[in-house]
Amino acid sequence: MPSDAAAAATASSPATLRFPPGFLWGAATAAYQIEGAAQEDGRTPSIWDTFSRTPGKVLGGDTGDIACDHYHRWRDDVRLMAELGLGSYRFSVSWPRVQPTGRGPAVQRGLDFYRALVDELLAHGIQPVVTLYHWDLPQDLETAFPSGSSAGGGWPERDTAHRFADYARIVAEALGDRVEMWTTLNEPWCSAFLGYGSGVHAPGRTDHRAALRAAHHLNLAHGLGAQALRATLPARAQVGISLNPSAVRPLTDAPEDLDAQRRIDALANRIFTGPLLKGAYPDDLFADTADITDWSFVRPEDLAVIKHPLDFLGINYYTPTVVSATTDPSAPRQDGHNSSLHSPWPGADGVAFHRAHGELTAMDWPVDPTGLVDLLSQYTAEAPGVPLFITENGAAYEDTPGADGRIHDPDRIRYLHAHLAAVHEAIRAGADVRGYFLWSLLDNFEWAYGYSKRFGAVYVDYASQARTPKSSARWYARVAASGALEL
Ligand code: NOJ
Repeated sequence: MPSDAAAAATASSPATLRFPPGFLWGAATAAYQIEGAAQEDGRTPSIWDTFSRTPGKVLGGDTGDIACDHYHRWRDDVRLMAELGLGSYRFSVSWPRVQPTGRGPAVQRGLDFYRALVDELLAHGIQPVVTLYHWDLPQDLETAFPSGSSAGGGWPERDTAHRFADYARIVAEALGDRVEMWTTLNEPWCSAFLGYGSGVHAPGRTDHRAALRAAHHLNLAHGLGAQALRATLPARAQVGISLNPSAVRPLTDAPEDLDAQRRIDALANRIFTGPLLKGAYPDDLFADTADITDWSFVRPEDLAVIKHPLDFLGINYYTPTVVSATTDPSAPRQDGHNSSLHSPWPGADGVAFHRAHGELTAMDWPVDPTGLVDLLSQYTAEAPGVPLFITENGAAYEDTPGADGRIHDPDRIRYLHAHLAAVHEAIRAGADVRGYFLWSLLDNFEWAYGYSKRFGAVYVDYASQARTPKSSARWYARVAASGALEL
């Protein structure tokens, strides 16, 4: 029997793919990437402020000091969202703006900013979706660590998970009367493995043991944070998490390549979905990483906390991952990077990464929507009854204004079209996908790439801070208004 959503996701004519009624059409951003105002109203540095000020860490020496100046231009930005007909907006709260040292009392001005933003969204009929943690850990939690660990604090330390739960409660108390959809963490894989493994993200540590500890304490933070949200929010609130699962494919079906796929699947996906959905880490993950850690930092009681029932699962998807087994020590260790950099993957020394097929975006990421179809069917099976949202999907391209001042971005339209068609295909096959958030509303600070990569549907001229919707924004507005994709 097809589900209701599958039945509603019809191809009403051969030329139109219709999405189910009530499907949420949104766009997403994150605090450090757009807000700026890094030192205003009591905000203290996050690990990204420190990292971006460290020479050589971010392309061009860019920082989020000003970014899109959204902290001052939020009213205009909400107006823009309304003009584009967005039904929903996913944004993150900056932890160091509302709880500067990551401990202790909240800063009222920080909370007021988000209350005003949410009120403005609601006044325009736009549903707010709050992400509590999108990578901007208060620097003090990285530096001032209670355990006395000589390496540093941050996510490898258990205490950070408890600090996160306190912060979650603070934000829930401030916004809980007006926000219904909440995600605890955004892409904990990146926080753990790019932040503490390869070091290409803040805080820039390169220690595989710390990365595995970080992954567990992020899982624990999710569980404790979800408990804090439930205890504070009205019963109607929806609590979830946004993961960036890898659609991992073997280069060939040789047994060694299938084993490489299994190992990366454990480190990219099951390290999170194991405890989140099943209450256990996978045995093969323990075996693969036994030389690095004995995992004694996992307490048995943590697992019940982490397996907190999810109201929805957010999936961020950009491109698939192709792996093979290798004995060549100079083989690429991660997509788009060569082996001269630290690998983010603990215990995966014999694995090489390859480019998937497909044209490339400006990130050099192949365009391949089949990975999204695969992931949606996989999570439909692994998380039965849990609604899915695409909490991020989009692409960077070299956008430049034409002589008429307009930005024509047909590549991005093609990318979005193909991925929305993939979502529709998955829904028709039975996936319960309830909404889609384009990454991103605005061009913004693309982490280690600074402002060099533009993911926005809206172009930002950083010198003047002028916003100009690209043709993709107009196209997406039409899709959102009609709830249908023309073929
Ligand atoms: C995922 C992250 O959540 C977001 O912050 C980032 O900008 C996009 N991917 C694009 O890399």
